[in-house]
Amino acid sequence: MKKRKESGIDVVAPSRDTGTKTVKKHNLEVPETKELVLSDIGYPFRMKGDPKPAGLEVDNEELFADYAKEQWTGTVVRKDMYLFDRYIIPDFAFQVLHADPPESIVTRKTKIILKSNKTDSAIPGRIIGLGDVIGHETVKQKCRIILSYLADPSRFGEWAPRAILFHGAPGTGKTLTARALAHEADASIMISKASDLIGTHVGDGGRRISSLFEEARKKAPCIVFIDELDAIGLARSFQSIRGDVSEVVTALLGELDQSDEDSGVVVIGATNALPLIDAAIKSRFDSAFVFQLPNAEERLEILKMYTKRLPLPINFDLHSLINLTDGFSGRDLRDKVLKEALHQTISEDATEISFETVTNIIKGLEKRKSPAYMV
Ligand SMILES: Nc1ncnc2c1ncn2[C@@H]1O[C@H](COP(=O)(O)OP(=O)(O)OP(=O)(O)O)[C@@H](O)[C@H]1O
Ligand SMILES: [Mg+2]
Repeated sequence: MKKRKESGIDVVAPSRDTGTKTVKKHNLEVPETKELVLSDIGYPFRMKGDPKPAGLEVDNEELFADYAKEQWTGTVVRKDMYLFDRYIIPDFAFQVLHADPPESIVTRKTKIILKSNKTDSAIPGRIIGLGDVIGHETVKQKCRIILSYLADPSRFGEWAPRAILFHGAPGTGKTLTARALAHEADASIMISKASDLIGTHVGDGGRRISSLFEEARKKAPCIVFIDELDAIGLARSFQSIRGDVSEVVTALLGELDQSDEDSGVVVIGATNALPLIDAAIKSRFDSAFVFQLPNAEERLEILKMYTKRLPLPINFDLHSLINLTDGFSGRDLRDKVLKEALHQTISEDATEISFETVTNIIKGLEKRKSPAYMV
């Protein structure tokens, strides 16, 4: 550990009016901080491709408070300012959420509280559950089995679900389903993109995989979701092109083999390029689920669900869009059709989304889908 700088505390004397103690620093009288509430923020920057730190885990709050005092005693604090860690994780930032009194100096008597900022960064905005995923009934059924395994891992014995694979066309709801599962699970979920697991240096990728699984086992019951698996699960013929990938594949295979039946860790991999996945990796997954494009009924359900959430009403019957949207994914319907229609309607200062606006957008999309020339 580095040696702490001198705190700069000069004199401690009771203040004249309130009885609060003050400390003289650089000849200015500053009251002592009675209570300091911090939130963990993270690093000022990171190398491209390095994963975002998931937040701090504090096992002993008293010990943390003591550790914090060790380095920030003598620091004048005020709301919103940043304090940087100097010992365990140098340059990791904390932000002052609250200081009492508002501008005061940290002393050995300050009560320090950490409000961890650790939210599941992979689950943005609106809360979703499996009920928000339209269609994909067999996948949802399997997800429910995983949920009951996670609730009581010992119940399944050697028949425990260990690893499942989601594959299918882009925008069909693979990531959405994993997030929905995460939300419904009373378990932790660790979502990582395979490309983030490949490091910049030789050995990084293997280490990242091991630490990901090590943390998952500690947090169990836990789901490890590896999105865009094709980026690391590359078939061997491609691994020779990307040498850095093979070490990650080896580490992943090792981890998949290691996971005990009652470890409480379930792996979900997702890809839209199944043929690119290494056969050895594929065989480690108990089952693979195809995410098909939605059928007519499901398209109607998806449109109904998202139009309810639009801030402007639509002035036509959604059934009329069913035949026009054959081959569209859930993402196409939501982000390319409805979102675009909303934006156009707003830009035209209209108050209702019209059939004409929507059909024009669909026609435009269809044109883009079929190339203007043949090779
Ligand atoms: N079956 C569905 N039910 C409800 N919404 C859906 C469905 N499929 C797609 N969507 C909508 O489309 C968005 C994109 O889907 P998602 O990101 O899950 O696709 P993906 O299969 O992971 O695609 P990719 O292979 O490109 O990663 C979802 O956030 C959701 O809004
Ligand atoms: Mg996805």
